[in-house]
Amino acid sequence: MIKKNENLIKEIRDRFENVGKCSEGGERIFFENAGGSLTLKKVISTSSKFSALPDNQGRNNEASNEVSRVIHKGKDDLSDFLNATSGQIFVGESGTELLFRLISEACLHTSNSGNLVGSTLEHPSSRSASQRWAGIASLGYVEIIHSDEEGIVSPTQYYDSVSCDTKIATIIHTSPITGMTLNLSEISKAIRKKSPSCFIIVDGIQHAPHGNIDIDSYNIDGYVISPYKVFSRHGYGVAWISDRFAKIPHNSLSGAPENSWELGTRDPGSYATFSEVVQYFSWLGEKVSNQVGIREKINAAGEAISKYEKYLTDLLLFGTGNLKGLSEYPQIYILGGAKNPARTGLVSFSINGIESSDLVEYLETEGIRVHIRKNDHYSGNVLKPLVINDCVRVSICHYNTEDEVGKFLSAISNKLLTYTNSKLSKDYTNS
Ligand SMILES: Cc1ncc(COP(=O)(O)O)c(C=O)c1O
Repeated sequence: MIKKNENLIKEIRDRFENVGKCSEGGERIFFENAGGSLTLKKVISTSSKFSALPDNQGRNNEASNEVSRVIHKGKDDLSDFLNATSGQIFVGESGTELLFRLISEACLHTSNSGNLVGSTLEHPSSRSASQRWAGIASLGYVEIIHSDEEGIVSPTQYYDSVSCDTKIATIIHTSPITGMTLNLSEISKAIRKKSPSCFIIVDGIQHAPHGNIDIDSYNIDGYVISPYKVFSRHGYGVAWISDRFAKIPHNSLSGAPENSWELGTRDPGSYATFSEVVQYFSWLGEKVSNQVGIREKINAAGEAISKYEKYLTDLLLFGTGNLKGLSEYPQIYILGGAKNPARTGLVSFSINGIESSDLVEYLETEGIRVHIRKNDHYSGNVLKPLVINDCVRVSICHYNTEDEVGKFLSAISNKLLTYTNSKLSKDYTNS
């Protein structure tokens, strides 16, 4: 258990850079993890080491052999992290680029009849790719409208929208706006009941830092993550694809092995830094369990992360000590509702009468970093149906603490008190 284990929380925090302070300023509490997590110190040193290497794979010298070893190890570690015992893993420019790559190749392969099914909960990276490439490939685009109340898309909704003509389906694992996690196994089961050979492509980017990815159990064809959101660094994305997906025609060098999806020279630093992430999960798994196998340790770490993050989001919503939680203020609206079992590490809310931009600015002056989500091309699909223009997103990770949540709730309480007092005095002046 991480909860109430001060020593373990300290050990966890010691492993990350910029935990309590901003790289550009003073102390700050980091609740903007959905925009990019903190980076492991080990990732920083490993990244620096590999950025200095001039050597490439496939040469007959020690440095080249080492580069190959690191890349293979990175792939093996990623297989453990994702629990993917088949298929292949490769890196690309970013999560967005990889989603575009998988979706565009799937569309071109299945072109000219049938449709692609996605949902309004998805990030624009998969939605834009689907809409553009379904059009190019003359496939229909069917969009499932997510539930505003619960902030999810259900297996039944997929079942009702998919037909035997559905060639591709896209799913977001966890929404970075509502914070809710979808039931991937049940959704893929529902899709395959109607369209058994449908290519199912999943955006796992927001889900990955919260642990418990289990590709073997999902029966899908593609899963994409962004390492800068899972304690690694910027500059690359990671995709897993199933063996049958790997076989479809795709961009590759003429004469290269048929199933290879890698394009160009590999950056060993991207694989090596992800090995550090897996090593971290393994270390945490040892701290919270007696497991010995790598996958079991990763699972144990994921479970501990989920439980602790639920504890922290419950504090945010329902309060701690004499501090009220967000759900206890009648003027606060919580996206997806306060009591939502699908919530994963994130609370988005708006306050009646206070602009979200003012609130984000105020919290920044209080040393608390959160983010505004606006009715724009990133979040409009979720906010517009709710008839709200913006909201504040508080996204946590397992290195955050109860004390940090308390400081946030205290700042919210002060803001609401100031707002109420100034409103009362305005009303009094006007009366
Ligand atoms: C759910 C989700 N999908 C896709 C992306 C895009 O990922 P990247 O920044 O790696 O392109 C993000 C980034 O915020 C995201 O949260």
